[in-house]
Amino acid sequence: MVITEEFNHQFAVAAGLSPGEEMTMMKVVSLVVLVFGFSLNALAVGDPNNGAMIAKACAGCHGADGYAKQPMHPNLAGQNEKYLIWQLSAFRDGSRPSHIMNEVAKGFADQDIEDLAAYYQALGTCK
Ligand code: HEC
Repeated sequence: MVITEEFNHQFAVAAGLSPGEEMTMMKVVSLVVLVFGFSLNALAVGDPNNGAMIAKACAGCHGADGYAKQPMHPNLAGQNEKYLIWQLSAFRDGSRPSHIMNEVAKGFADQDIEDLAAYYQALGTCK
């Protein structure tokens, strides 16, 4: 916040604002910082709709509905979100070795993993 206030002041001076206008500016910028902070928080939660898009690449092995057609592929539908985040991260960094899954998870961003996990958990266990 100190950085923001200093930045505000510099900005106000540069823009030739009076002290009163400077206060208003500070309030506006603080509000923007607050709202932006909240939206960053919202991003930390997995988005199942985006997960569904990515999961099209997984359907061949894990099933379009999260239920694998072959016994050598695990079911993912209804699996706990936190477990999925943990395992996909482990595949990505190689701490859980798997020829297939290490390749699959290699390029994922944290957000991709969270979205996929939210999607598979949301499918539920109704079979
Ligand atoms: C070519 C087949 C194939 C594709 C495509 C594939 N997987 Fe897998 N997946 C596997 C196999 C096989 C395993 C078992 C890995 C092992 O432990 O050896 C596995 C394991 C997993 C596990 C661990 C499940 C558990 O119970 O621990 C998760 C999570 C997973 N896959 C997610 C995904 C996601 C998400 C995608 C798509 C982005 C995907 N997989 C694409 C074959 C595949």
